[in-house]
Amino acid sequence: MFQAINKDVKGASTSVHVPGSEIKVGYEIKGVDISKPLSDSEFQENIFLPIVQNSVVAVRGQNLTVEQFIDFGRRFGKLEKHVISPNVLDGHPEVMHLSNIKKNNKNIGRPNPGAFWHTDLTFTNTPNDYSLLYSIEIPHDKNGMPRGDTCFRSTISAYETLPKTLKRKLTGISAKHFHLWIRRRYGDEEGIELSEVQRARMIDVLHPVICQQPETGRKYLFVNSAHTVGIQGMSEEESDALLNDVYEHIASQETYTHKWRVGDIVIWDNKATQHYATKDYEYPMRRHLWRLTVEGGAPHAAD
Ligand code: SIN
Repeated sequence: MFQAINKDVKGASTSVHVPGSEIKVGYEIKGVDISKPLSDSEFQENIFLPIVQNSVVAVRGQNLTVEQFIDFGRRFGKLEKHVISPNVLDGHPEVMHLSNIKKNNKNIGRPNPGAFWHTDLTFTNTPNDYSLLYSIEIPHDKNGMPRGDTCFRSTISAYETLPKTLKRKLTGISAKHFHLWIRRRYGDEEGIELSEVQRARMIDVLHPVICQQPETGRKYLFVNSAHTVGIQGMSEEESDALLNDVYEHIASQETYTHKWRVGDIVIWDNKATQHYATKDYEYPMRRHLWRLTVEGGAPHAAD
């Protein structure tokens, strides 16, 4: 088991000790009702530490108002309005609708949330620490099986299982990230219009390829095929070849596939994971989730 040291559970962490080397991804927390008050110690034991250990957790069977979901999200830190999406809830700019539902012929939310492996917001200098999703409507096939799974992989286990030669090549280097990289590559920029403020947060973003969690000391890989343009100082050819090796290695990691039910909350440590939103449903099959984004700092380069 793991042990927490001086952990301020409201988000301003100091140090968390995670003994043992086994990295798991995905864990279901049982017996917690998020609509009821949770003391700081209950939050730490039952919610926060399982995330430290498993990077992704699910809490099923919840019945929350938007205010209760926001209050729960605030336990992890300051919530931010997503830097790109205009699809926010009326009166609650920190809640983003992910949805393919249309009202008056207009999407009520973002219909294509991310059908590509990515870590959220790596195209900003301060990618978020946590993301939370709460499911309102989930599509099903004719046999009653859920569609629109969300899949996760650990960037910590990816680092820890890197072959030595690859680890050597990645040590001390940085990569450039850009928000429209994947969409540009696939010719789908979704008509995204950015304000000056939004653009300013996304200019010339460079992150170390190997980063380290200050609280646990664990290292993780911080490149993803959706937003990473290339390695700083390398030719495009050299960079693409190296990044492809890294992506193949990340793809060989264990995958946690979350099969959604209405009332599920899924929370992930954003920098410690990559995720993929499966797009195997089309309207009139309806999918609707609320999403919260918890502010984070710049990723730390590994020692
Ligand atoms: C996301 O990529 O942040 C959303 C994942 C999902 O809709 O399943």
